This record gives sequence, C-alpha cells and structure tokens, in this order.
Amino acid sequence: MNMSEMDKNVFDLIGKQWMLVGAEKNGKINAMTASWGGLGIMWGKKVAFVFIRESRYTKEFVDEKKTFSLSFFGEEYRKMLNYMGTVSGRDEDKISQAGLHASLNQDAPVFEEAERTFICRKMYAQEMKEECFTDKEAVERWYGDGNYHTMYVAEILDVIEK
Ligand SMILES: Cc1cc2nc3c(=O)[nH]c(=O)nc-3n(C[C@H](O)[C@H](O)[C@H](O)COP(=O)(O)O)c2cc1C
Repeated sequence: MNMSEMDKNVFDLIGKQWMLVGAEKNGKINAMTASWGGLGIMWGKKVAFVFIRESRYTKEFVDEKKTFSLSFFGEEYRKMLNYMGTVSGRDEDKISQAGLHASLNQDAPVFEEAERTFICRKMYAQEMKEECFTDKEAVERWYGDGNYHTMYVAEILDVIEK
C-alpha cells in the first residue's frame, strides 16, 4: 500500500486503535502495546515516531536490530492489546500467551492477526532528558520515577495489509 493512500486519521490510529511495537532478538520476538507516537516526514522520508520507556523489555529488542514493526489490529483484539500493554515479556512468553502468530519480514515481526503492519528502519534514537523539557509540568506528571522515554525515528520501509 502507498502510505499516502492511508485512509486513517493518525490520531485515531495510534491514540485510539493502539499498536504493537515488536522486534526480534536472538531468535525471540517480543512486543508491547503503544498509544503514543506519530507518523510524519523527516529527512525526506515517511517516518514513524515511537516512544519507549527505559524499563520496557521490548526496548532491548528494538535496540538490537536495525528494524522493528508497528502492528495495527481490529477491535476484536482489544483484550490482547491490553494484555500486551500490562504484562512484560520478562515474565511471560507474551506472543504465545496472546495467541499471536509471527513471521519475520526484513528481520521485523509480522503478526498474522494484524490488519496492517509497518516495517520500520531505525534512523535516530535519543533518550529524553529532564533538562530538555521546556514544560517542567510534563516531567512531574510523567517521569516522577525517572523512567524516561527514548524517542525512535524510523523510516517506514513497507506497509503490509492483511
Ligand atoms: C494503551 C497502552 C499504551 C501504551 N503505550 C506505551 C508507549 O507508548 N510507550 C511505552 O513505553 N509504554 C507504553 N505502554 C506500556 C507497555 O505496553 C507495558 O509496560 C508493557 O507491559 C511492556 O512490555 P515489555 O516489558 O514486554 O516490553 C502502553 C500500555 C498500554 C496499555
């Protein structure tokens, strides 16, 4: 699919539908639910912006490889997204527990159950820092525990539609 033909409002797609951020490391796949992020243009490319806190097991997977995936599911998978967003892959084999079936595309996981998958190539990763916030209230509200997000900017290489 051509990204420019995407019929979805990005605010709904990410903020309401939610997505899985998934990656592969040492033959294992892990993924987590995310509802913060964006799509846009950077360095002349169509990119996705993803924000992953330091504590997430998925971060180790995303940091390992050049690519990761963003997966979008139908409403019937809401329960699965809640599970993937509350349990850590450090404690359970989330992919099999959630009943997801994964294969790899350019080293990034593609879930059979997803209605749309973006294969993303990392271009930039930067940990957020307290001193960079111009809105100090956001620091108090979201980072009282010091568990900052790392921002990833990644080129969208492919969009796979079910
Ligand atoms: C709706 C929803 C949205 C979330 N969005 C994010 C996000 O954008 N970034 C993030 O770091 N964690 C987010 N989380 C939290 C992670 O999905 C959650 O901590 C997950 O259990 C991490 O799993 P892992 O340790 O296997 O990576 C979200 C959780 C939910 C339920």
